[in-house]
Amino acid sequence: MCGIFAYLNYLTPKSRQEVLDLLLTGLKRLEYRGYDSTGVAIDSPDNKNIVMVKRTGKVKVLEEAIQEHFSGADYSEPVLTHIGIAHTRWATHGVPCERNSHPHRSDEGNGFVVVHNGIITNYNDVKTFLAKRGYDFESDTDTEVFAKLVHHLWKTHPTYSFRELVEQAILQVEGAFAIAVKSKHFPGECVASRRSSPLLVGIKTKTRLATDHIPILYGKADDKKLNPDQDTDSGKQQVLPRSESTSEFMPLEEKEVEYFFASDASAVIEHTNRVIYLEDDDVAAVRDGTLSIHRLKKSLDDPHAREITTLKMEIQQIMKGNYDYFMQKEIFEQPDSVVNTMRGRVRFDGNAIVLGGIKDYIPEIKRCRRLMLIGCGTSYHSAVATRQLLEELTELPVMVELASDFLDRNTPIFRDDVCFFISQSGETADTLMALRYCKQRGALIVGITNTVGSSICRESHCGVHINAGPEIGVASTKAYTSQFISLVMFALVMSEDRLSLQQRRLEILQALSKLADQIRAVLKLDSKVQELAKDLYQHKSLLIMGRGYNFATCLEGALKVKELTYMHSEGIMAGELKHGPLALVDDSMPVLMIVLRDPVYVKCMNALQQVTSRKGCPIIICEEGDEETQAFSSRHLEIPRTVDCLQGILTVIPMQLLSYHIAVLRGCDVDCPRNLAKSVTVE
Ligand code: G6P
Repeated sequence: MCGIFAYLNYLTPKSRQEVLDLLLTGLKRLEYRGYDSTGVAIDSPDNKNIVMVKRTGKVKVLEEAIQEHFSGADYSEPVLTHIGIAHTRWATHGVPCERNSHPHRSDEGNGFVVVHNGIITNYNDVKTFLAKRGYDFESDTDTEVFAKLVHHLWKTHPTYSFRELVEQAILQVEGAFAIAVKSKHFPGECVASRRSSPLLVGIKTKTRLATDHIPILYGKADDKKLNPDQDTDSGKQQVLPRSESTSEFMPLEEKEVEYFFASDASAVIEHTNRVIYLEDDDVAAVRDGTLSIHRLKKSLDDPHAREITTLKMEIQQIMKGNYDYFMQKEIFEQPDSVVNTMRGRVRFDGNAIVLGGIKDYIPEIKRCRRLMLIGCGTSYHSAVATRQLLEELTELPVMVELASDFLDRNTPIFRDDVCFFISQSGETADTLMALRYCKQRGALIVGITNTVGSSICRESHCGVHINAGPEIGVASTKAYTSQFISLVMFALVMSEDRLSLQQRRLEILQALSKLADQIRAVLKLDSKVQELAKDLYQHKSLLIMGRGYNFATCLEGALKVKELTYMHSEGIMAGELKHGPLALVDDSMPVLMIVLRDPVYVKCMNALQQVTSRKGCPIIICEEGDEETQAFSSRHLEIPRTVDCLQGILTVIPMQLLSYHIAVLRGCDVDCPRNLAKSVTVE
């Protein structure tokens, strides 16, 4: 999805060259989110104009264009105070091209320039309104209307401050957005806001910050919508501090300060670990180096201030290290990431599990009508993978839902439902919408996320951080295994006092204690998997079959193959083979089958025989030393034995490796597959 990065230095001398380098590095950190074009805006050397450079394609292309654009100009002179904004665009309105790339401008003089993430749904109405007032549009985007609307308001309300102009523009637009605005008319100032799309502010100061909170200020005319037709400033908001907040919290007034506005923490961590996560409809403004946060509407449950939080993330976590690709690094991190998910939660000696983020809600959850697990993509597959165990250990009905389909159906939700929202990023629009839908209907909301401070995390009543560490590769790997384990831990917590289930719990806990070593053993199959990839990479399709606890691996394996290699792949429930998929099988169709010694082994063997008797020659994932199964094919991958409900963790790793190697052999962009985004923040 689009990425926003803006940098403001106040009384901190930086040359334009340094500013550009900072902006480009920020964009590089956001590359993993997925994008198709890029752009930056900075001040011209005489400070009288704003210069924009935009390109289709990678940040590298923009970097070259910037070098070319500024060659000959002296950009080494330090500027005391300056604001630069930058963007990676993932096309929604209009094809990826320079014209549609951000920043978008208000007028030919570049009076106001805007970077935006999300979709302004009423942009056509605003566009018609502005067109009638003589505005010409140069792009196909929804974003451009915002820049022009701010300009229109500036012309009609000349006494408005920059923040007030942006606030009034926000009142006119609908949809989801995160924006950062820069203006020639308000040098050294930046205004940013969000609604349903993520945005945070990083703060860097020379000395320790004098405060941990920024007070929230409110407009006096809270709900008053400006009439864009009105050419007076009678609708002007007088923004006054909320009286009780000023005594408790100090505004952030620093002498020398740098601010970073970014879509996610990975873009700011190398500069500062002090950040504020903006909430929906917060307007953050920096003027004379002072950051203030304003809200358009006062609500009773609003806190008085936004907290400045300290990021726990380390810079090494977002670097590739010795690996060729982030995805490869993340696959190989799994022995550690699964341990991090369990750390401080599972006590193997006492067979106890504590999930601090939901423990107070367990009695309520035990009384619920049903559990609903909702997510998209890989996160949805982690729900499929653990559903059976949750049914077994909670003895509750468990529904597993794709967020988009769940919303399409207007699914009935009741106050005594418990709804889990599973999301690596914590920002996926469909999942977030489904969360809000369930929350409105009174259900208990449990977030399972990897991103502390994300929207899903903040809007849940309680939850589990999966603690897998930053995941940069677009195709999710370590987040899947950690989501899987988080849900297994939840099932174990729910069955703590069921006597009849103690033996089963013990078996699972013991298996969890061996998991990291077993994952290491599976990762040793890497070169063997690479050889298999050489057999497969020129084919057009790959069918992946299994059932029971391993059906989720089939779905997730097929998703990995599709995402990374652009090959067709399908996860097939082996029980459905006779109902259609068998027609695809012949001696040339690549097939992979998961056949483990679990309760469905006999049924899987049955499927294997059906495939081989149609001259299919499957690759088999089976248990170590299982000669009977191996006899069916010369190509097999042996994985260590574990308890049935955790097999899915060990079987998915060969699939991650296989898709990775096929992608490399096919020359695909492993970390940023075409047309895909890491965090899908639009519906
Ligand atoms: C995108 C990503 C997938 C991910 C899905 C859900 O499609 O490319 O890898 O599984 O979104 O994302 P989430 O952050 O909600 O887990």
